[in-house]
Amino acid sequence: MILRQRRTSDRPDFTIDQDWSSYTADEHAIWNELYARQRKLLVGRADDALLEGHDALNLGRGGIPNLEKISDELEKMTGWRVVSVPSLVPDDVFFRHLANRRFPAGAFIRTREELDYIEEPDIFHDVFGHVPLLTNPVFGDYMQAYGEGGLRALKFDRLKNLAALYWYTVEFGLIETPNGLRIYGAGISSSLKESIFALDDPSPNRIRFDLERVLRTNYRIDDFQESYFVIRSYDELFRATVDTDFAPLYDRLSDGKRHAPATVLAGDQLVHRGTGVYARERARAK
Ligand code: PHE
Ligand code: CO
Repeated sequence: MILRQRRTSDRPDFTIDQDWSSYTADEHAIWNELYARQRKLLVGRADDALLEGHDALNLGRGGIPNLEKISDELEKMTGWRVVSVPSLVPDDVFFRHLANRRFPAGAFIRTREELDYIEEPDIFHDVFGHVPLLTNPVFGDYMQAYGEGGLRALKFDRLKNLAALYWYTVEFGLIETPNGLRIYGAGISSSLKESIFALDDPSPNRIRFDLERVLRTNYRIDDFQESYFVIRSYDELFRATVDTDFAPLYDRLSDGKRHAPATVLAGDQLVHRGTGVYARERARAK
C-alpha cells in the first residue's frame, strides 16, 4: 500500500502507530509467503538463536505481526520493544531508540514485485531479520550498547567507522558454530539470494572478525558483499565492542585509512579466501 509508505511522523522520535488493522489481506499474504520461503531456507543456514527467536515470538503465525503484541512478549524476555517508523530515521534518532531498547521497524511491507529485493527496510526485513535476535540476552545488550556507542561516535565524528561495524555484524554477520558457518545478520537472513550466496558462493571472503579491521572497511550497499566477517560467538562480539573503550580507537581511525570491500590484508585470519569471481563478472557486465 503506497499510502502507508508515505506516512510521516510528527513526533520527535519519528515513531508512528503501526495501525495493524489497516493492513490488507494481500499484505498479510505477502508476509506469510516471505516467512514460509525464508524460514525454510534458513533451517540449516541461520544460527539457532535466530530460528529460536522466530519461534519464541510466533512470527510465522497469521500474517504481519502486531508489534504491540510482539513487544509485550519480547519485553518479558529481554526488555526490548519494537516501534513503528515510516522508514529510515536520522542517525541520532535511531541510536537513541536502540540505547533505550526500542527497535525501530518500518511499518510498510514490500509489494509482490519487490519480494526478492527492496532498497528500504520494510517490516519483513526489520521484524523477520532483526527482531528475533533481540530475544537473545547477549545480542540484545550488544544492540543497546551499539546505540549508546552511536551517540558517542557522533561526538567523535566517527560515524562512518561505527556504521561499518553495524553493517558487518548486525546486517551481514556470519557466526561459526559446531555445525559450520551460520547466518545471523538480518541483511542476509531476510534475503533469498544472499542467504545462499553468503554461505555457499566461493566468491566472497570470509574473514575472522577483528574490531579495528571492520571499522576501517568500506561496504557495498548495491550488491552482495565481497567480504563477510565471522564471529565465534555473541560473547566474543560483546567483549570486543561493549567492553572496549573506543576513544583511543577513534583517535587512530582519524587517519582516515580505509580498506576496499574485497581487500584481504596480511593480518587477516581467513575462514575462506574469496575467488572474487562474482564481483568481477558483475563489474564486467556493467
Ligand atoms: N564501547 C563503545 C565505545 O566506547 C561503544 C560500543 C558498544 C560501540 C557496542 C559498538 C558496539 O564507544
Ligand atoms: Co536492517
